[in-house]
Amino acid sequence: MLGQLSPIGALSLRRSVTFFAGGFVCILALQACSSGTPSSPAAGGTGATPAQRPAHDQAMEEFVDSVLAKLTLEEKLGQLAQYRGRGTPTGPQVPEGGEAEIRAGRVGSFLGVHGAAYTREMQRIAVEQSRARIPLLFAEDVIHGFRTIFPVPLAEAASWDVGAVERAARVAATEAAAAGLHWTFAPMVDIARDARWGRIVEGAGEDPYIGAAMAAARVRGFQGKDLRDPLTIMATAKHFVAYGAAEAGRDYNTTDVSERTLREIYLPPFKAAVEAGVGSVMGAFNEVSGVPMHANGVLINGVLRREWGWDGVVVSDYTGVMELMPHGIAADRTQAGILAITAGVDIDMVSGIYIEQLPAAVRAGHISEAVVDEAVRRVLRAKYRLGLFEDPFRSSDPDREARLTLAAEHIAEARALARKSIVLLKNSPRGGAPVLPLRKDLRTLAVIGTLAQDRASALGSWAVSGREEDAISVLDGIRQAVPRTKVLFAAGAPVEDNDASGIAEAVRVARGADAVIMVLGEHRDMSAEARNRTSLDLPGAQLQLLQAITATGVPVAVVLMNGRPLSIPWLDENVPAILETWYLGVQMGPAVADVLFGDYNPGGKLPVTFPRTVGQTPLYYNHKNTGRPPSEEDRYTSKYIDVPWTPLYPFGYGLSYTTFAYSAPRLSATRIAAADSISVQVEVSNTGPRAGDEVVQLYVRDDVASVTRPVRELRGFERITLEPGQSRTVSFTLRPDHLAFYNQRMQRVVEPGFFTVWVGASSVDDARPARFEVVGDVQTVAP
Ligand code: BGC
Repeated sequence: MLGQLSPIGALSLRRSVTFFAGGFVCILALQACSSGTPSSPAAGGTGATPAQRPAHDQAMEEFVDSVLAKLTLEEKLGQLAQYRGRGTPTGPQVPEGGEAEIRAGRVGSFLGVHGAAYTREMQRIAVEQSRARIPLLFAEDVIHGFRTIFPVPLAEAASWDVGAVERAARVAATEAAAAGLHWTFAPMVDIARDARWGRIVEGAGEDPYIGAAMAAARVRGFQGKDLRDPLTIMATAKHFVAYGAAEAGRDYNTTDVSERTLREIYLPPFKAAVEAGVGSVMGAFNEVSGVPMHANGVLINGVLRREWGWDGVVVSDYTGVMELMPHGIAADRTQAGILAITAGVDIDMVSGIYIEQLPAAVRAGHISEAVVDEAVRRVLRAKYRLGLFEDPFRSSDPDREARLTLAAEHIAEARALARKSIVLLKNSPRGGAPVLPLRKDLRTLAVIGTLAQDRASALGSWAVSGREEDAISVLDGIRQAVPRTKVLFAAGAPVEDNDASGIAEAVRVARGADAVIMVLGEHRDMSAEARNRTSLDLPGAQLQLLQAITATGVPVAVVLMNGRPLSIPWLDENVPAILETWYLGVQMGPAVADVLFGDYNPGGKLPVTFPRTVGQTPLYYNHKNTGRPPSEEDRYTSKYIDVPWTPLYPFGYGLSYTTFAYSAPRLSATRIAAADSISVQVEVSNTGPRAGDEVVQLYVRDDVASVTRPVRELRGFERITLEPGQSRTVSFTLRPDHLAFYNQRMQRVVEPGFFTVWVGASSVDDARPARFEVVGDVQTVAP
């Protein structure tokens, strides 16, 4: 019957709300339908924090209820079904039979289907030919750029530049939304303390403080100020929770973390994303203490929803609902579906269980329809907040898509952030001056290493819509930067096997050069989902290649391309200059060349600890002191007999072509009450010959507390730029939540006692600590 209604004109809908009601399509003036929502972020999930957001958006709730009331059980479960698209020669499309499923109201969203024109076609089927006429959501993993690929998230975190990271997500959202998408499965906010885990590349590293800052920045960037803006996309904080704690660094493996570690390490970035208004959260594949996350009602409905007051939509990870069977807590698909939806997982990505098994389960009374209704409400709210009922075609404008994809200003942002993400690990003098930056008037330069010409690797993993041909390799970047220099190239040795047959030719090429740039590391597919390693060494014959080249005596600088910390003690001892460049995206080549030749002074810092050997893993800066802290002198202390206990490069570490000096930190008080804040100021000076960036880092330790505390914790940072000779005062405020921790009764408190503060250039910078005392009563702080 509804099929006979006149088609909904997209343009005429721009200022109106459309919904199905009682067999009619109602088109109401927006004001009448949802007073106040057009201009206010109250429609939620935008930049507003829960505190700012009205607890209840009456107009939205009425609208959502009115839609829900008209849906059949199958249509409701259709809203919770997410299907995966398929690649075709003309672009990603819905799966075979997908159009019929849309018409039948059996699909609420698609993963990996985009294209302005194509999504318009599919959306038209949904809003004109399905009975319920509810618009579809198109989602994709837009992780570090859509077509303009930015540095991988771990690299972006190495910039410590929250504003630049927010802008990168904004660019990604702009391009993705212009290509028909409404929703991204990013940011990945998992804390990772184990470099063996392949997905460490997708997050912000090992620390919850910078992790929270990056999570919030990315949510703001993707979602903009108002999700109804057609150039925004809904963000997803993933993977909830403790996915990075997989035992032995093996993806999808069991995790077993204490509630304290969960609350102090793994949950804070999710909390920050929630406070930034994230629209969705994805469940994690792992279990937490015996309960798989896709069935973990305590953490999803309990912590995320009830405790934090978040009302967004929870999406399963890929077949995460079905995986409750191999986890061994569901006997069959029906039980898996019931467990997941009851725990609060609203959307079933790919398993097909909700749509196939749950109708019968509801009818048989195994699960109440009210549980389904709640999940559907959350999906409808997300569509409402995105403005899809107002304009289902908001993201499907081919002209805009053509104009915005790979726009010049997007590429410029990508290059700027790529340069900021580079970390200078070593730069020793050789013959008087440091090796880097290289002179631009070298006669002959050898570039060695197969990764130098690998444009796909420049993009890094999860560059789903990125194209190799958009990327500039390191080799091409160097060639463009020094057009008058003869640039020779030899691949030398492959990354993935031990074939050493190309080494002799590489040595011959190196001998004819004034300097050698070695590009070494991992192929992009070695740091990614399900790409875990038991070794952190340079793979293949690359070390052998490097050793052969350094033996020539020609000056060598190493450019590392990798998505995880590598154990590179031989390089540290034997190579004068090392740059950590990760995977920097489409502008990798120019950015690396900018740094190699001194057009940009590197200022990135490591967001993860680099161990000396994989055997030290997990190794992270904010560890506990233990009762027997490591000591050279004392045998019976916490250390190894074969390697030092210290990292090769610590968290927060990174050099510059200039030098910086820090004054002693000045505190605004020496004694404060537990409810008070204290400010910390430090003067930082550029004492070297060039302008440069420094990431000023503030660390705190609660010296004696009722539970053990980490040796130090990051509680502030700022990336600043100083001209030679310039000084700047950097100020931080330590608030009670910076000093709080969970006591033995799991209350979040600030306890009286002494605190030590360090402000410096890395997590091991311990010059001039300052101390203050918290006096008076214990103060409880909101979790
Ligand atoms: C990953 C998710 C991703 C999903 C959809 C899964 O394998 O774990 O992070 O969003 O696939 O592509």
